[in-house]
Amino acid sequence: AKATYIREHLIAWYQEEKRDLPWRRTSDPYHIWISEVMLQQTRVDTVIPYYERFTKAFPTMKDLAAAEEDHLLKLWEGLGYYSRARNLQAGVREVIERYGAEIPKSREEISTIKGIGPYTAGAVLSIAYGVPEHAVDGNVMRVLSRLYALENDIAQAKTRKLFEHLVMDIISPDDPSSFNQGLMELGAVICTPQKPKCLLCPVREACQAFAEGKETILPIKTKK
Ligand code: ADE
Repeated sequence: AKATYIREHLIAWYQEEKRDLPWRRTSDPYHIWISEVMLQQTRVDTVIPYYERFTKAFPTMKDLAAAEEDHLLKLWEGLGYYSRARNLQAGVREVIERYGAEIPKSREEISTIKGIGPYTAGAVLSIAYGVPEHAVDGNVMRVLSRLYALENDIAQAKTRKLFEHLVMDIISPDDPSSFNQGLMELGAVICTPQKPKCLLCPVREACQAFAEGKETILPIKTKK
C-alpha cells in the first residue's frame, strides 16, 4: 500500500512539475548516457550548456568514437573528472565494436561497458528504454532513507544494495523512467539535504521521517 501510494503520487507529481531539461527532450540512449555521466559529479545548471555543446559536436556514437582526445577534453573543460570523458569515449567505442552501435537493453550486458556502473546502467535502461531497473545515487538514498526512516549509513556499500532492493520493490513496471526521475527530481528540488520543503512534498503522507520529525537527521552518513 505504501509502495503503491509513493509510486502513484511521485509519478503524477513528476509529470506535472518536472523541470524542462534538455536530456528530458530526447529518447536517444546515447544522449541520455552523456547526460548521466555529466550529472554524476556536477550540478544540473552547470551541466546544461556542456550537454548542449557536447551533443552538438558529437551527435552520434560514431562521431564521439572518431573524436580526437584534445577536442573531447576541450569540450569537457570546466566539468572536471576528465577520466569520465575518456571512459565515455572508450565505452562508446566498445558499444560500436561489440554491439553494432546499439546500447544493450539488459543490466547484465550494459554493465560490461567501460564507465557504466550500477547507477548509470539503471538510469540509461529506465530512462531511454523503459526497463524497470534501479538507479540509486546519493540523492535517491536521501529520499528513501527519509520515506522509510532508515538509519543505515549511506557511506557503506552494502547500504546502497539495500536501497537498490527497495527501489526494485516499489518501482513502477509501467513507467520506470518517470519513477526513477521522480525520485531524482524530488531529491533535487524538495527533499534537499538542508531545509527540505516537506510542505510541498507529494509523498509527505507516506514519509516516516516527516511523521517522526526526523527529516533533518536523515540520512545518516559517517565520514568516508
Ligand atoms: N541527476 C542525475 N540524473 C538526472 C536526471 N536525469 N535529471 C535531473 N537530474 C539528474
